[in-house]
Amino acid sequence: MNAITRSEQLTLQSHDEENCNTSANASLNDVIEARMSRRSVFKAGLGSAGAAVLGSFGLAACGGGNDGNTGAAPPPAPAASLDFKAVAKNRLDAVTIAEGYTAKPLYALGDPLSAATPAYKNDGSDTDFDNRAGDHHDGMQYFGLNAAGTGRDADSSERGLLVMNHEATSNSGGEIASTFLHVDGGTNTLPRPAAEVDKEIPIHGVSVVEVRKINGQFAYQKNSAFNRRITPLTPMQLNGVARGHALMKTSFSAAGTDCRGTLNNCGTGLTPWGTYLSGEENWAGYFTRSATDNTARGGAFANSVVALNRYGRAQGAASRHGWQSAGTADQYARWNVSQRGASPDGSDDYRNELNTFGYMVEIDPYDKNTLIRKRTSLGRFAHESGIFGKAVAGKPLAVYMGDDSQGEYIYKFVSTTHWAAADASPANRITTGDKYLDSGKLYVAKFNADGSGQWIELSMANAAVAAYAPYKFADNGDVAVNLRLAADAVGATRMDRPEWSAVHPVSGEIYYTLTNNASRKVEPTGTETAVDAANPRSYTDAPTAPTAPRNVNGHILRMREAGDEPAATGFAWDVYLFGAQADADPVRVNLSSLTDDQDFSSPDGVWFSPKTGLCFIQTDDGAYTDVTNCMMLIGKPGKVGDGSTPTLSYTKADGSTLTVQTRLGAKPTAATLKRFLVGPVDCEITGCTETPDGKTLFINIQHPGETIRKANLADPTKYLSHWPGNAGYGAGGALARPRSATIVITRNDGGLIGS
Ligand code: FEO
Ligand code: CA
Ligand code: CA
Ligand code: CA
Repeated sequence: MNAITRSEQLTLQSHDEENCNTSANASLNDVIEARMSRRSVFKAGLGSAGAAVLGSFGLAACGGGNDGNTGAAPPPAPAASLDFKAVAKNRLDAVTIAEGYTAKPLYALGDPLSAATPAYKNDGSDTDFDNRAGDHHDGMQYFGLNAAGTGRDADSSERGLLVMNHEATSNSGGEIASTFLHVDGGTNTLPRPAAEVDKEIPIHGVSVVEVRKINGQFAYQKNSAFNRRITPLTPMQLNGVARGHALMKTSFSAAGTDCRGTLNNCGTGLTPWGTYLSGEENWAGYFTRSATDNTARGGAFANSVVALNRYGRAQGAASRHGWQSAGTADQYARWNVSQRGASPDGSDDYRNELNTFGYMVEIDPYDKNTLIRKRTSLGRFAHESGIFGKAVAGKPLAVYMGDDSQGEYIYKFVSTTHWAAADASPANRITTGDKYLDSGKLYVAKFNADGSGQWIELSMANAAVAAYAPYKFADNGDVAVNLRLAADAVGATRMDRPEWSAVHPVSGEIYYTLTNNASRKVEPTGTETAVDAANPRSYTDAPTAPTAPRNVNGHILRMREAGDEPAATGFAWDVYLFGAQADADPVRVNLSSLTDDQDFSSPDGVWFSPKTGLCFIQTDDGAYTDVTNCMMLIGKPGKVGDGSTPTLSYTKADGSTLTVQTRLGAKPTAATLKRFLVGPVDCEITGCTETPDGKTLFINIQHPGETIRKANLADPTKYLSHWPGNAGYGAGGALARPRSATIVITRNDGGLIGS
């Protein structure tokens, strides 16, 4: 077995667990005060605070039936029960799926995307990653192709394009090379050889790959003219409020209008006009800054220094893979964001390069020739998905987004342009994106203890932003680029690492996974955050682990806009599910009363089938992995306010009691939540999309067996996983190097997935 222990694994994983938020938002005192004032609400004689809050929100189904894309009929109600037997938790090095279903690998790291590219040998000798599948398959969307393969047919379930993010590549144990990508595991000291870096850079980014049903089974099409890799070196255009801004000027674009590539792509979005949004998440860690860069920039309180610190790049920060060390050419030098040039504006170095990452990136998958746009008006942070609320003709579009780091925020963008149904099938998709995504308002969420919440506008029109002392905003472009600082300024609620969002296709309610948070404390110090109503748990891993209390298992929050309006500035919220082990304390941990058929930890992906309305929940966990590999569950949620208002009680160090009341959705039953799939060892389950007929589901198995040290590479028996080679896919067989891969899931009787 591998010499790496579970606790080592925990310390090695997750480049997204940093806490850069030093703001004091939602302090303990705020929570206590909020609780006190809520008591007066109760005294007013309301039987249920939930009913009081929800009274102003219409809870009838929204109707309209617009799925945002094809104008199809409203989704049918899901079947009365989830018609499959739950999959047992397990640690098999395999994909285990519910009986009656089949899961097959479809498209794995290194698979060729052109006729000229040789098959993947998977022994570290492969090159030409501009023409191969990237690594760490993540968020993904299906785009239908017409039968002739000449263009878009949003309703096609026979032929389509899968567009997916390739988030990262595996390195662990303090090593910096992507171990499995190189014959000998690569070079873990600086300088990195250019030949290694030239493989590692292009395995990041995005794939567009054609998939087609042949003899009833989907296969990826190696020779399709639509196939395309988008990498950290692909030229892109900066659009929106920060286009041409002083903060965006680099050696690459002195005008601040263009940028090079996309990085650490995580969650996704599907626009109502048929393009793909890719969220740039943990990009900051790829860049280095010299140990004296603060002085070069004018001192510790200089605006750019404050911003760099807030986005996780303090001076002296090392880069994740050391790519800057591979040479003096621009494609290497740009990974060092120290101020080195003599120009006053940054046009002669890469001091501003970090400002060109951290966006939602819009790609037209059907057209290789349109320039990809970074949509700066949607703000800059560690983006997860960008999910559209229900598109309603004549109303603005709302895009829901999360910032995945400890204590970061939940955001919404509201378009200036109101939706026109004809834009569901526009002649020019990317300029339709310009129309809706380049102008609008940004909001951040504040969650109140009484189950209500506010969307607070982040712009210079908000006095708290304009007058913020720690960072001086110049204009709304600056606000978008440094959105985390603007959110600090207005006292937004610090959350337990917002991962994906999803919108229920009928109710329009918005779901957010909050994956876990090691800094959620009863008595916080430093950058930690106090428990509050929307993030109420801080506890130790069951049965007992030698760790301090925190939100170990995460939860799934949901929200309903006031009046179901996309531009609402108020909402109601509750917690759909609290992740927990089934055997955990039912009063303070397993609040949703999860059973062995339902228990999960660290929700990450969440997605609704437009066809069935079922909710797919995927995990990226390091807490429950002593019992089970990561998994996917299928749920049939109710609605905001359908549960109870339990109170959690904590004993503080001085012996006093702290109580926090939260809002708990109706507890799931055996008929409303079941485990559908468990992945191979040391993976996360992510990416979720299906054909429009609801009969073929595509998901991603990310980084199976990612925990590997170079010293163990020569002995394959020490790999934590050999999937998908051990499932007969690709080279290497039972002792293969593990590969991230897309799998295709069908029901053996040809029915709808999960219902
Ligand atoms: Fe890439 Fe936060 O998941
Ligand atoms: Ca994720
Ligand atoms: Ca995650
Ligand atoms: Ca990951």
